[in-house]
Parts: sequence; C-alpha cells; structure tokens
Amino acid sequence: MKNFNFHNPTRILFGKDTIAELKDQIPAEAKVLALYGGGSAERTGVLGQVREALAGRTVLEFGGIEPNPRYATALKAVEMIRENNITFLLAVGGGSVIDATKFIAAAAKYDGDAWDILTSRGSVISQALPFGSVLTLPATGSEMNSGGVITNLEKGAKLPFSSLHCYPVFSVLDPETTYTLPPRQIANGVVDAFIHTIEQYLTYPSAARVQDGFAETLLRTLIELGPKALETPEDYDIRANLMWTATMALNGLIGAGVPQDWASHMIGHEITALNDTDHARTLAIVLPSLMNDQRGPKREKLLQYAGNVWDIREGSDDARIDAVIEATRGFFEQMGIKTRLGDYDISASGIDHIVAALQDHGMTALGEHQAIGPEDARRILEAAL
Ligand code: NZQ
Ligand code: ZN
Repeated sequence: MKNFNFHNPTRILFGKDTIAELKDQIPAEAKVLALYGGGSAERTGVLGQVREALAGRTVLEFGGIEPNPRYATALKAVEMIRENNITFLLAVGGGSVIDATKFIAAAAKYDGDAWDILTSRGSVISQALPFGSVLTLPATGSEMNSGGVITNLEKGAKLPFSSLHCYPVFSVLDPETTYTLPPRQIANGVVDAFIHTIEQYLTYPSAARVQDGFAETLLRTLIELGPKALETPEDYDIRANLMWTATMALNGLIGAGVPQDWASHMIGHEITALNDTDHARTLAIVLPSLMNDQRGPKREKLLQYAGNVWDIREGSDDARIDAVIEATRGFFEQMGIKTRLGDYDISASGIDHIVAALQDHGMTALGEHQAIGPEDARRILEAAL
C-alpha cells in the first residue's frame, strides 16, 4: 500500500426528511445563494423544501445551471455573489450543480482571471466561499469530494479541477429526492459510480485489502441494485443503498493508498466536449474497450475483478478476461446505456477530433502507468466504434 494523507471534512446528513435540518448547518447570519439547475428542483418540490427549511433567513436564488455546467453561466453567478455580498452557497441538484457551485465558490474569491482555475486544474485556488449541497442525483460523488468539471463551449473544453478548499461543508442526502429521476439519469448515476470505483480499483495489485474489498462491495451493490432501481423506482432501501454507494465510490476512501487510472474519464470528457453526450455514457463507451486494450498491464486485477465481483472462475486467464469485459458491457447495456461510439453518431472523424483535444489539453500520459498517450487513446476509441 502507498503512503496516504486522508481527510474528508464533509458532514453527511443522510435519510428521510433531512432537508429540514439545513438551518442548523448554515450560520444564521449568512447571506445565502441557493443554486440549482434547469428546473427539476422546482418541479420535484426539493427547492420548496429548501425554502421552507430556510424560512426567515436571507436566501437569494440562481437557477439555470446546465448539465455539464458551463463556464459562462458560472461567471454570471460569481457576478451576482459579488453584487449581493453573498457569504454562503447552497447547491441543490446533481453533480453539475454541485460542481458549478464549487467553481463559483472558488472564482468568487479569486482576483485573477477565473479561467486560471481550470488551466491550473485548481492549484491557483487559495480560498473559496463555504458551501453545502442538497443532492438529488447519486452519481458523481461531488457531494463529498473536492473536485469538479466545467465545460467552456467557446473553447470546446471540458476541464477538471480540484482543491482542498472545495469540499462541501455538508451534504444532505435524502434518498426520497431521487424517486423523480428519469430512467436515463438513474442509469447514468449507477454507471458513473461503477466506473469511479473501477478507475481506483482496476489497475495493478498494491496489497490494499481494505480498499479492494470496499471497491468490490460497491461494484457488486451497483450490479445488483442498479437494474432493480429501474424496475421499482420508489423502493427506499434500494435508493438509499445506491445513494450511499455513489458517495463512497468517490469520496477518497477507496482511492487512498492505491494506484488510480482515470483514463476513461479523461477520454470521456473529450467526447462530451465534442457533442454533449451524458458523462456516464461516454465512460460506458470507453471503459470496455480500454479494459480489452489494457489487458496486459491490468491482467492481475482483471482476473481478481472477474472472480470477486462476477464470480467468473472457470477457464484460461484470457477466457476469463474476455468474459468479464463482456459482463461489464452487458451490465451497462442492461441499464439501457449503449456502449459504442456509433450509437452516439461519432465516426472516425470524431475520433480525430477527440485525440487532438486530448493533446491540446495535455492529456497525453493517462492511466495508472501514465502510459496511455493520444495514439493509444485513438486505438481504444477505434475499437469502440
Ligand atoms: O438541470 P435539472 O433540471 O436540475 O435536471 C437534472 C439534469 O437534467 C436532472 N435531475 C437531477 N436531479 C433530479 C433530476 N431530474 C429529476 N429528479 C431529480 N431528483 O438530471 C439531469 C442531469 O443532472 P447532472 O447534475 O448533470 O448529472 P450528474 O449528477 O450525473 O452530473 C454530471 C456532471 O458531473 C461531472 C460530469 O462530468 C458532469 O459534468 N462529474 C463530476 C465529478 C466530481 N465532481 O467528482 C466526477 C464525475 O466523474 C463527473 O466527471
Ligand atoms: Zn464520472
């Protein structure tokens, strides 16, 4: 196991009716800006619950944060914060709203050009406004981590950033808020959480028994409960387990002390920048192809994954690896997520664009061995056509 320094400061308020506890988490004198997305929070009543919980407090609202949140929209929120002397932010929504809120919290306290935050991947951030979240879509883990991803349409770029200053102070996770998710978003959430776990698990052995065991449990839970959530969307225990799984998949715990990959994510971000494909869908395209392409360097963990997660124990090494890659692809398809570039109208010219974008964004040494360069990404994408 590698050395690590693990600290996660985000308080989690988990369960039914926990939105009502918001007022105890936000200082009474705070001037709050509640940020939300395209209207689901209003329609589903979550925003109403937030307003009720914060009745009597000073709360302004900023709506219209897009999925794959846009840089230009975030800057408008920064302006509003400065004009109104806002002191606390509250994200109400999915990963996009929480990611945007992190960026806005940092940009509001940054004197230079906010674009620096993204080109430096967050390293220029030295302070941020405090913020909390009310999560309505279990998927990204953004509710309990310090990272975010922002899209700049003009520049054709979707760039990640992270900073110790960007952990939510608290996140409210009420599984009942997820009952209104359409099947497409349930599937996206399950597959995104699955691939977050894989990115921190499917590398090479590092004698990290606890991290591996936790990761395998998260993967098995998603495989078992993901399809059930589609069948019986209002089953509380299924939703509660999926919600906590998605949080645990990317709050730093399973990634502490182990090698990490993230190549599927970095390649996937360029697919979204190209044609706005949902984040999780880009990952479901890249991962099966990447597993096959990287079967050499990942051999031992692929075999461990096959046995411990899918109970595939018969046959030669290569036969078990073939079987587990097909099982993984089959799981994504079972969730209703297509796994080929062609399913998203991307052809060979699209691959040229994605490879050039990886190069432009400095994503030239990806994977746990920093050995996946643009031409390797091209090969992986061509096999996913
Ligand atoms: O915009 P509204 O109207 O709110 O609707 C949203 C949106 O259209 C809707 N939705 C959310 N909660 C709902 C709901 N609809 C009905 N009922 C509810 N309870 O769902 C749609 C998608 O929301 P979004 O927030 O975009 O989805 P998700 O949580 O999957 O976030 C995706 C973003 O997170 C980034 C992705 O790149 C992408 O930009 N990621 C962030 C990470 C992080 N911070 O650690 C890691 C991830 O790998 C990922 O890259
Ligand atoms: Zn993701």
